[in-house]
Order: sequence, then C-alpha cells, then structure tokens
Amino acid sequence: MVLINSTSDWSGPISSVPQVATLNRVLLGDPTHFTVNEAINVHMRDEHGELQVVDLEKARQQWEDLADAYRRIDIGIDVLPAAEGLPDLCFTANPSLALPLPDGTCDVWLSQMAHPSRAAEVAIHAKFFAAQDLIVHEFPSEVQRFEGCGDGILHPGRFLMHAGTGPRTSVQAWEVFDATYPELVVLHYELQDERFYHLDTALTPLDQHTAMFVPSAFNERGLDLLTAAFDDLIELPLEEALSFAGNAHCPDGHHVLIQSGCERTEAALRERGFKPLALDTSEFRKSGGSVFCLKMAWR
Ligand code: ARG
Repeated sequence: MVLINSTSDWSGPISSVPQVATLNRVLLGDPTHFTVNEAINVHMRDEHGELQVVDLEKARQQWEDLADAYRRIDIGIDVLPAAEGLPDLCFTANPSLALPLPDGTCDVWLSQMAHPSRAAEVAIHAKFFAAQDLIVHEFPSEVQRFEGCGDGILHPGRFLMHAGTGPRTSVQAWEVFDATYPELVVLHYELQDERFYHLDTALTPLDQHTAMFVPSAFNERGLDLLTAAFDDLIELPLEEALSFAGNAHCPDGHHVLIQSGCERTEAALRERGFKPLALDTSEFRKSGGSVFCLKMAWR
C-alpha cells in the first residue's frame, strides 16, 4: 500500500484493516536529569522569551504520579535509568516506536532524532530493546528525521498508522514503513501549527472508533482522513489543547490519562463512557510534553 495523503486514496472503513494486538506495557524514563537548557520547540520559552525554569522536585513527583496511575490500571512499566546530559530522556515516546503486526509479533524502530541534543537517547532505547525478543529496525541513512511515537500513532487494534510529518519527522521515514509492511495502512498528516509540532500533541486515539484532535494542527486533507478513520471525533477547545489535552493516553480503551484542569475535554470523555484520570504534568509541559510523550508503549 502507498502513503495515503487524502481520502481519494483511502476512505475506510476501519473494519477492512487487518487487526493487531494493542500494546500494554509502557517504557518510562527516569527524570533525574530533566531540565530545559535549550528551546527546541515553542513551549520551552516563557512569554518573555526566556527558557522555562523547571522545578525538579515537582517534576519527580508528577512523574511518580504518572507511573502510579499506570500501575493502578494494570499497565506494566519498565524504566530507563537516568543519564546525565540527556534532559529529555524522560520523553520516551520519541527515540523508538513499537509496531504490532497482524501475525501477533511486534517490531521496534529506532528513531533519527531531529535535534543533535537528543540523538544519544536512541542508543539507550536500542540497548533496552536488544534485551527483549523483538526485531529492532534502523532506518537507512537517507531518512533524516523520525521521532517515533511522537509522529507515529497507531490506530487502536488495527494495522493502521496515523503518520505525521513536520519539524520532527520527514516523509521518507513513512515511505520506509510503506515499503517494509505492504499491508500497513499509513495515513499521512502534514502538521500545520508550530505549537503542535508532533502529531501526538494534536491527536489521541481512544478506541477503534473514537479520537480527540486539535483542528488547527491539520489541513483539510488531514481532517478528512481523520473523519474516514474514526466514527466519533472529539474536537478539543484550543485552550485545553494548549494545556496538552491532546497529548493524553488511553492504554485500555477506557481509562484516559490526561493533563488535569481540562474540564471540557474530561466532560466529553465522560459523556462517552471513558474514565479520565487527571494528572498534573505542568513541569514537563514547560518542555513541550505531557502524558503521551512521557511513555513509549510496546509489547
Ligand atoms: N523537549 C522535548 C522535545 O522537544 C519534548 C518532547 C515531547 N515529545 C512528544 N512526543 N511530543 O523534543
């Protein structure tokens, strides 16, 4: 199958796409060295243009609360040890991506980080996955940018990838996926808004039929693709999207781990039978990430 850019190439239904397992372990990264020491996205500066200042003790508590929330809903956790000089290591969504296959196995892809300051995180993921019984892939050198689950979001339970391109992932990466997995449906979204610089800041699938999304992050073609893939789309109010409501995580089709204070989004979730679990990720938002970025889902 080729990269799908518009609904003239694919219009569903989702039930025609091969089924895959859902991923129910998460890999977290110890935030001991988390800080903001350069601005690689617009959230990393405050309203005066200064680098954000992180309260590390508070960040540690927020990260522990996130880990506890996963434990409470029976999602297995692994933790990468902290590494000095890698302030973004806690954002495990980016250096790798796991892809469950229709035959029941799961492949892992190692990223090509867009910013040199994050490049060394990839070797840490590589080491972790080398110890698991999974096939680990690397991109050919012509793929310059790929930031894992930040721009590659799996459709729950289906062999379909919501594939973003923009500042962090280039289209060549998705062409490699196309060539490697002929059955994989790759829906391509060109990100439009620098505040939503990874697809995972603008799209949270909840189950096979439902997703939350941020309208301003997508162009018309992208909005049409979302409509073809999901029966029920929850449009996030911009204010809550800027608090990272669209960077939530629903690991089991029911519980939604989400930034606290996003009241309208929480109400929309409850109306549909989902159970929001509100968590404060304010320190990590200063770096441009919330719940979804702080974990990498696999197995
Ligand atoms: N400071 C990190 C960066 O800019 C934040 C990463 C957030 N990750 C995400 N998947 N949105 O790379």
